[in-house]
Amino acid sequence: MSDSSDSFYITTAIDYPNGIPHMGHAYEKVLADFYARCARLQGRDTWFLIGLDEHGLKIQNAAEEAGQAPQDFVDEKSKAFSHIYKHLGISHTDFIRTSEPRHHKFAQEIYRKVADQEDIYKGDYETDYCVSCEKALQKSDIAAGECADHPKTRIKEETYFFRLGKYRDAVREHIRENPDFIVPSERRNEVLSRLEDEVHDLSISRSGFSWGVPLPDDPEHVLYVWFDALSNYISALKEPDASRESYWPADCHVIGKDILWFHTVIWPAMLLSAGLPLPRQVYVHGFILDEDGKKMAKSLGNVVNPMEVVGEFGVDATRFYFLRAFASGQDGRFSIGDLEKRYNSELGNDLGNLIMRISKLGISRTGGTLNPSEGIDDLGGREVAGEYLDHVKAREHNKALDSLWAFLRKINGYLTEKEPWKVEDDSVVEKILYTSTEAMRWALCLLEPAMPSTATSAAEVLGIELGKLDEFSPGARSYSLQPAKALFPRREKPKKDKVEKKKKQPQGEVDPFTKLELRVGIIEEVNEHPDADTLYAMSVDIGGEKRSICAGLREHLSVEELEGRKVLIVANLKPAKFRGIDSLGMVLASDLADGRIWPVDPGDAESGDLATVEGVETRPKKKLSKSAFDKVPLIMQDGRVTYTGKILETPAGEIVCDAADGASVR
Ligand code: MSP
Repeated sequence: MSDSSDSFYITTAIDYPNGIPHMGHAYEKVLADFYARCARLQGRDTWFLIGLDEHGLKIQNAAEEAGQAPQDFVDEKSKAFSHIYKHLGISHTDFIRTSEPRHHKFAQEIYRKVADQEDIYKGDYETDYCVSCEKALQKSDIAAGECADHPKTRIKEETYFFRLGKYRDAVREHIRENPDFIVPSERRNEVLSRLEDEVHDLSISRSGFSWGVPLPDDPEHVLYVWFDALSNYISALKEPDASRESYWPADCHVIGKDILWFHTVIWPAMLLSAGLPLPRQVYVHGFILDEDGKKMAKSLGNVVNPMEVVGEFGVDATRFYFLRAFASGQDGRFSIGDLEKRYNSELGNDLGNLIMRISKLGISRTGGTLNPSEGIDDLGGREVAGEYLDHVKAREHNKALDSLWAFLRKINGYLTEKEPWKVEDDSVVEKILYTSTEAMRWALCLLEPAMPSTATSAAEVLGIELGKLDEFSPGARSYSLQPAKALFPRREKPKKDKVEKKKKQPQGEVDPFTKLELRVGIIEEVNEHPDADTLYAMSVDIGGEKRSICAGLREHLSVEELEGRKVLIVANLKPAKFRGIDSLGMVLASDLADGRIWPVDPGDAESGDLATVEGVETRPKKKLSKSAFDKVPLIMQDGRVTYTGKILETPAGEIVCDAADGASVR
């Protein structure tokens, strides 16, 4: 086991795959990814684990409801999680699933080590249990309203107990002596205060169901899902060989506030009993709430799907929003309006325009090459990097981004003050732009952990090599500029939509789906668009009416694959022209796991058939703008196109696609 600060092992909570990944899951993985990338930026050998918590009653019940065996159920669900995390640019080095043999092996091993210390005994157990949280509820929890909106089950069975109470003092001592063991400090104080009370022993086995890791000495019992799940942080290091084991103890477990006790008391107690080193830190983030500060819940109809946000704003803008808009460790409200504002001002103006300004002026005034010379200013990149990394060390990612954004504004301010566009001497212009680009080198390296693909594209435009911070030697090289594309094109809100929202939404009457006319079409003819490499120009029959429709499917399907295909069309979209060719509708498609975009399939429906969802009458009177269409969340679930959890249907049945759960349809 290593003590070396050259390596960095970071983990996230492993998610329950009983549904599709939600905003909280995505938020947590982005936070951890940011810290993993920061460690790499500092040259640390980084191991980054995420994964799935696949056992327990909650999963067994969900599998039963879906009419599947638990293993088949989690195999399928796991695809959606992998897909979404890949899409979000999560740079994990391993993905553990607790149903894997490598995990079973270590979960049993740690149980044995604990049993060898005589820290496990058999007894009778009777409790109220919350299956949704997979935890026993004490009377005080119930009185405090905990799990008030989850159903409770009464459990009465024989169980094996872990002597958790025996470790209370040792755990408390550890927390007291290591101020950084739990961050932020409010959470540390919360645990210390709970540790003032008596700590009961913990039931760690269940015999009422079978979906779990069997106890080595009594296979009638399976391990309690938390005893099993917590050990993932080490089980994932055990195979394929011993080389990964040196990453333990973990440098940082990233978790949400609801699972604080499990990670800061139960897990340390298990490790102390098993004679294994404790993790160095547990970083606890807050919860993402809806715009009104309420918990997001299906039943409240306020859930925002992270993939829809990504579809609308892009991966990097979504990551940026998570990291910048929510104060570290605190709950935060997810607001599309706030995201939109930050997108336009902080991404579009502060970052995108800055890169555009340097590239345009540099190309026109210096031919695109910026050479180092005497009289170049230092805008203080090194100091900003120091400040940024201090915030990272304190796990205050939002403050790290505050420092970076203050620096971007400083670079913008420098250009505004020097007004190179008014300067006649080209060599002076070159010095000003060199100073700015050199500063951007620091800025983009610091941007990479938050917005990896933006940092890479911007670095290409400015001729910057992104690298580790200690490899910097300022003023030592030339920059070769490339023409810039708008990285964050301004998002204009159509005025009409704004008005419509104000007038109609408060009454809560108009379901956006009612504005949609989705019809089955047959693609009759496909041609490559003469002036756009990615587009096909097609003729589509919709119930006898021939429509010209353009679709960006050229990288994904051949002409032969499209001709004769039945598709689903947004039939009342406002007419558009794509480089001279009319487009009177849109072919709906989704993302396959291999990166291709594929049209959804209306099966045996007839051309012209309408697609609807139960309980919502479609009555489109007007043509729909693309931005209004984008507000209608069509999402893949179990291979079917859905709207707010309801399945889309034609008279012939469901509309299907091989895309992963959670993928948006657009
Ligand atoms: N399976 C357990 C964790 C076991 S770790 C050994 C679990 N799973 S979970 O799917 O319910 O939650 C996974 C993570 O997402 C947890 O850290 C949880 O706190 C976090 N979030 C769940 N909802 C959240 C929000 N609304 N906001 C932010 N994160 C929240 O717990």
